[in-house]
Amino acid sequence: IMDGNGRWAKKRMLNRLRGHAAGIEAVRETIRCASDIGVRYLTIYSFSTENWKRPTDEVDGLMELFAKTMLAEVDALDAEGVRVMTIGDLSALPAATAEAFASAWERTRDNDGMTLVVAVNYGGRAEIIHAFEEYLRCAHDVQAAGGEPVPLTEDALSSHLYTADIPDPELVVRTSGEMRLSNFLLWQAAYAEFVSSDVLWPDFDRYEFLRCILEYQSRERRFGGV
Ligand code: IPE
Ligand code: IPE
Ligand code: MG
Repeated sequence: IMDGNGRWAKKRMLNRLRGHAAGIEAVRETIRCASDIGVRYLTIYSFSTENWKRPTDEVDGLMELFAKTMLAEVDALDAEGVRVMTIGDLSALPAATAEAFASAWERTRDNDGMTLVVAVNYGGRAEIIHAFEEYLRCAHDVQAAGGEPVPLTEDALSSHLYTADIPDPELVVRTSGEMRLSNFLLWQAAYAEFVSSDVLWPDFDRYEFLRCILEYQSRERRFGGV
């Protein structure tokens, strides 16, 4: 959860958008470091369903930054074998932004390195509602075709989430010292370890990332057992 771009900019008396732009280098470094140490799935929370509440110039600036960055980085990501995907509702994004993500996904779909999941216009609650609607639609279709009723199980619902083919996260890191999920992977993070980093996102680097991983490695995970 990449947080603190606005505060980074404010400390320097810059526009918030300068903070978001400065955060791109931290994204680059985190992707490279994660891929180097063998992380298989890295999800970056880029824009939440609640972030539309921000001033229009900030929202527009972020959407432009996403499109520009995705187009500029896709070659390097592809060359490193990274597979790019998105979770969230792309249909509400400006066309150029949605297309930049969709074409990166298409272009890298057969890569077998780390999967980079960009959470954009993503909200955990919206995702669960969407999954439940899909479940109901499928259950109805099966019933209409005379099939057995489809029981509503955790696996059945999970199979309709945006993350159907992505394992649950083992570690959730949030920067800027905040300790909340802000609607990120509500279902999937049920047993994730949470690590808070005091660093503002644009200052996040491989050393801080590895410190978070070390903290994760020192945790004892019990999953409700003893
Ligand atoms: C995170 O930084 C980036 C997005 C949510 C898009 P913020 O913009 O939330 O930065 P702060 O929390 O205001 O410092
Ligand atoms: C969460 O950060 C969303 C992203 C990092 C994209 P916010 O800055 O929007 O969250 P709140 O408002 O502090 O909870
Ligand atoms: Mg914030």
